[in-house]
This record gives sequence, structure tokens and C-alpha cells, in this order.
Amino acid sequence: MPAEATITRPGIDFSLPFFPLHLTTLAQVPSWGLLDDRHRLRHSQHHALYLNEQTVFFEELLAGTLLPALYERPDRIGEDLAADLRQFEVEEKRHSRWFRELNHRVDPLRYSLEQGRHVFVPVGGRTQAVAAWFARRPFAFPLWIWLMLIQEERSISVARECLKADAGIEPAFRDLHRKHLADEIDHVRWDLKLVEQVWLPLPRWKRRLQARLFGAMMGEFFTAPKRSAIRVLQALLDEFPELHPLAPQLGGELRELATSRDYHASHYSRESTPRCFALFDELPEFRDIGRHLLAYERP
Ligand SMILES: [Fe+2]
Ligand SMILES: [Fe+2]
Repeated sequence: MPAEATITRPGIDFSLPFFPLHLTTLAQVPSWGLLDDRHRLRHSQHHALYLNEQTVFFEELLAGTLLPALYERPDRIGEDLAADLRQFEVEEKRHSRWFRELNHRVDPLRYSLEQGRHVFVPVGGRTQAVAAWFARRPFAFPLWIWLMLIQEERSISVARECLKADAGIEPAFRDLHRKHLADEIDHVRWDLKLVEQVWLPLPRWKRRLQARLFGAMMGEFFTAPKRSAIRVLQALLDEFPELHPLAPQLGGELRELATSRDYHASHYSRESTPRCFALFDELPEFRDIGRHLLAYERP
């Protein structure tokens, strides 16, 4: 899409950010100061589309695979929690549809409603098959409970940031986050019940092993800016050729964020993922989780 053309879509205001500027990935690199307002605005819009895509991927995996595998075992989790997880599934299916529809409304060329294409999140058929294989086995890989808890706490924190009056977020995105926030609060409650019913009774060796695997997965897929961040940057470069001379510098600075405590803190911290961090404090198997979540320090 040419940068100078005014983008219009019914019901979407492209003169506003879709995500708080200061929380976007590029806002964390030193060269952010070299970008003009129009570049920053557009980056916030790409970043929001990327986050929506990531939410669709994760929540579809939960609803389609992980949650049924859990509630089909009421002997392991209890009848009450099994009923809650059925409700959880219904809600996540609805959320995936909302996020997918909004991306389609904003950018129908990139996002077809039927095919559910991934533009910024690089998950092909093979990755999806591997993820689904793991998600079908939550009792063999109970680290899923922690992936859910930390991501859902984070999504609450993201929604709250987007709803702050001074964030000035585009109304369709604000509405989406408002609706999402209302449901996610229950989800965190149910995630905590899963910690109680499934994680805590596990033998110590298994908890240690799974906690290590959880840390490795966070490091690989959910913390350091990697493939998706490069794609989001590329989308900006494609629209603004005047930024091409800056491309190597921006790419290098993005990679350096992997070891930036401030960058990690913008994702997972005592403020944004408080329940999860409080549980890490209590559980010895998470003693070293700060190696992967740099903003976590054991008290
Ligand atoms: Fe959700
Ligand atoms: Fe959720």
C-alpha cells in the first residue's frame, strides 16, 4: 500500500494509532527518534495487526485443541472446572472471530476471512501441526498452563493500555479490547485453578522439567523480537522507501532487544503479569526463570 495515499476503510480511522505508540517494538530501539510521526503511526497499525494475528493463532489453538483435551478429563480436573473450560472454549472461539474480522476490515487484501492467512506471524502448516500435537497433550506437557496464564495476563494488560484515554487508540481497536478484557479476567481465574488442580500435584522432577521447557518456549517464541518483528519492520519499509537507508540499523537494534531488560519488562513484569510472577516466587521450579524472562527477579 503506498505510504502517501490516504488509506480509507469504512469504520476505521487511519489517522489514529491502533496500539499505544510507546509499547510498539520499534519504539524500544534507539533509532525510533529518527522516525517521523507518520512512520510511527503506521508502525503502530502494523504492530496491532500483528498482535491480533498472534491472538488468533494462540486462542484458536486453545479453543480447538488444548481446552477440549483438558475438559475431556473431568477425572483429572474436576467436573466444575471442566464446565468452566467449556465456557472458556466458547469465548476463545468468539474472540478469534473478532480479531480475525477486525484485521480483515482494516486490510482485506492481506487478511482474507476464509483462509485465515498469517501475514506477520510465520506459522505455516508444519508449525501449526507441531503446536497442535503438543496442545493435544496438556497432561504430558503441563507447561501449557503457564503459557496460557502468562499470555492471558498479558492480554489483560495490553487491553488496559489500549483503553487508557490518553492512548488515543482507534475506536474499533478500543472496542475490541474492551470486549476482550471483560472475558479474559475469568480466563485468568480458570488458569489459576488449573495450576492448583493439575500443576501442583505433579511430582517435583516433572515440574522442574516442564518449567525449563516453559522458559525455553518463552525465549524462543514470546520474548525476543525475531521473525515477526522483522516482518512488521519490512511492512513499514515497503511503504516508506525513504527509510531504506535506516533498514540495517533498525534490524540490528531489533535483534539487540533480545537482551534488553526494559524490552522484556514491556511484555512481562510484576505490573503486567502479576499473578504469574507471584507464583514463580513461590515455586522452586521457577527459580531460574529470570534467565528467559529478564524482567523477573526473585525476591
Ligand atoms: Fe481471548
Ligand atoms: Fe483467554
